[in-house]
Amino acid sequence: MKLGVITSNPGKVEEYRRYFERLGVETVHMRIPYDEIQSSELEEVVRKGMDELKRKGVSDFLIDDSGLFINDLKGFPGVWSAYVQKTIGNDGILKIMDGVEDRSAVFKCCIGCNIGGRDIVVTGVCGGTILERSRGTEGFGYDPIFSHDGVRSFAEIPIDEKNAVSHRGVAAGMLTEEMMKTFCLEGKP
Ligand code: IMP
Repeated sequence: MKLGVITSNPGKVEEYRRYFERLGVETVHMRIPYDEIQSSELEEVVRKGMDELKRKGVSDFLIDDSGLFINDLKGFPGVWSAYVQKTIGNDGILKIMDGVEDRSAVFKCCIGCNIGGRDIVVTGVCGGTILERSRGTEGFGYDPIFSHDGVRSFAEIPIDEKNAVSHRGVAAGMLTEEMMKTFCLEGKP
């Protein structure tokens, strides 16, 4: 089985490649532009993107819209995560969070997958905390300032360990379960 991963983010490509290779699913990185509408819901962005790609004749692909939701900031940067990462970056978030006691945050990842003529949309979440300072060199985006276990940042753990707990790994697991149900496959995600 082959699945196109449509994104401009090489970090996501590598996480999906590692996740799916052990299931015997080959992922192929595809750079096909589509509109990412401004919406307060990740799922709406994903469904609109899928519709546009299908209209363009693309099939057997997945897209992913993700974000970091910080509780003390009422969910900010959330659906603006990409813009905030590009502008103020992790240092900007750490400045805003300076002295903040409640450092809890949630990463969310919505995957939209078109496979065998069917659409599957799932959302995975991963709770954790915003660290006091950036740590580690692995991963991408907010990884150096987010910790799922309160000890190590996502940028300090190997991809397979991140995939086992992360919003993207959880969503990929839900997607795999749905794919197995839909296509009557056997095995374990
Ligand atoms: P998008 O889904 O590509 O729009 O990502 C939104 C923003 O969140 C981008 O700045 C990404 O770098 C960041 N982001 C998404 N997923 C992750 C992740 O797993 N770790 C760290 N940052 C992420």
